[in-house]
Amino acid sequence: MLFKFFKFTESSRSGGSTNSALLMPLLLLVLVAKINGAALNASNYQYQVVEQRTPADPQIVEIFLKDSDMVKVWGTNLTAITWAHAVNSQQLLDEVLTETGNIDFIEADIVLGKLNGEGEDMPVMAHPPAIISDLTLAEFLYQIMEFNRDHEGQEKGVKLDFKSIEVFEGSLDILDENIPSMIGYPVWINADILSGPVEQNKTVPVDADRFFAGCMRYKQAALSIGWTTNWGADFRDGEYTQDQCDAMLESLTVNNVLSTGQAITFPVRAGIAANSQEQLHRLVAAVNETNESTLTIWSSAGDYVDVDRLRQLIFGFGVEKVYLDVPEELASQLDLGNSGSGASTFKSLFGFSFVSLCFWALSSWLQRI
Ligand SMILES: *[C@@H]1O[C@H](CO)[C@@H](O)[C@H](O)[C@H]1NC(C)=O
Ligand SMILES: *[C@@H]1O[C@H](CO)[C@@H](O)[C@H](O)[C@H]1NC(C)=O
Ligand SMILES: *[C@@H]1O[C@H](CO)[C@@H](O)[C@H](O)[C@H]1NC(C)=O
Ligand SMILES: *[C@@H]1O[C@H](CO)[C@@H](O)[C@H](O)[C@H]1NC(C)=O
Ligand SMILES: *[C@@H]1O[C@H](CO)[C@@H](O)[C@H](O)[C@H]1NC(C)=O
Repeated sequence: MLFKFFKFTESSRSGGSTNSALLMPLLLLVLVAKINGAALNASNYQYQVVEQRTPADPQIVEIFLKDSDMVKVWGTNLTAITWAHAVNSQQLLDEVLTETGNIDFIEADIVLGKLNGEGEDMPVMAHPPAIISDLTLAEFLYQIMEFNRDHEGQEKGVKLDFKSIEVFEGSLDILDENIPSMIGYPVWINADILSGPVEQNKTVPVDADRFFAGCMRYKQAALSIGWTTNWGADFRDGEYTQDQCDAMLESLTVNNVLSTGQAITFPVRAGIAANSQEQLHRLVAAVNETNESTLTIWSSAGDYVDVDRLRQLIFGFGVEKVYLDVPEELASQLDLGNSGSGASTFKSLFGFSFVSLCFWALSSWLQRI
């Protein structure tokens, strides 16, 4: 009976019975081998099971055009969209722009800096504090546009993260030249326009009014607007406060952004968003009265994240409202294929059935001798 329990959890996770059939003898083998020694490294084992899952559901690759905007949307499961984060050099861009790669969306940062450390300041691809790059914004956009033109059906979306109002305004000529031709795939313009959690006061936010004024020129671009954040491995408490969410809504309202028809997404940092479910629901609902809006959950490697609460947040909004640009480790912990019982429930069931299995194997073994 306990044994059946194990089989059930295993097959419900991997989506087939083949795995559990194969795993049974394997597990027994390992058990026999390890029964006198150290316990089987269960966390390692579980990791391998996760890796066996098929990486992407083919149905999400289905592409359709929305309205007359020619905005490309990937199915309805936004969490299945794959991201390349901080593509800020020619080498990284080359790696992402391949036919065989499975990247849907390219995220990159723009600062005012120097190409190869020489000449005039210009918009280049780099993340502060870096200000030198081997890739300019103009070249970056051009290469993506060329790739997408030559690869119909495999176009990649692009998210441009502007790190200051100066670099954004300094990029307008380049954007004017390129964005109108970037048709049939998503172009997002991102900036952190407000100071956010936790009592963040080190990074100066991008001036909201000037940012929105510039964005008005690109009606087909989605606006990705967030808060500067202060978070990491040692943070636990901290949330997008009601005041910070109200300030966002206020900024959208005074700049008439809600009447332009531009799509809006709020980039939120995973560890903080997990603690801010109510406020984020209120914000998205308020914006939704006028226009469609989504969340884009991102995370830095090493950030503390309460995985269960983040799952609650994602399933609370639904996978059709949430983009997920997080390190692979966090994505696999989230275990979004398993919408029912929750990751921790799975883990405890797994642990429980594993222990039961040990008892069962041990007793059969003892009976035989
Ligand atoms: C279990 O495996 C993981 C991943 O390989 C490793 O990091 C960890 O140290 C192992 N734990 C033990 C107790 O062997
Ligand atoms: C920035 O925030 C920290 C932590 O809350 C505080 O100690 C510091 O005084 C603040 N600095 C400024 C310039 O507001
Ligand atoms: C956004 O709102 C405006 C004004 O209400 C409306 O004209 C437009 O169609 C809306 N766009 C979307 C995508 O809902
Ligand atoms: C957003 O608004 C539309 C139209 O009013 C509604 O059908 C939809 O359920 C809303 N979605 C959310 C998540 O509130
Ligand atoms: C959405 O995509 C994630 C990531 O690929 C996947 O784990 C999950 O099963 C999908 N959910 C639905 C409802 O399609």
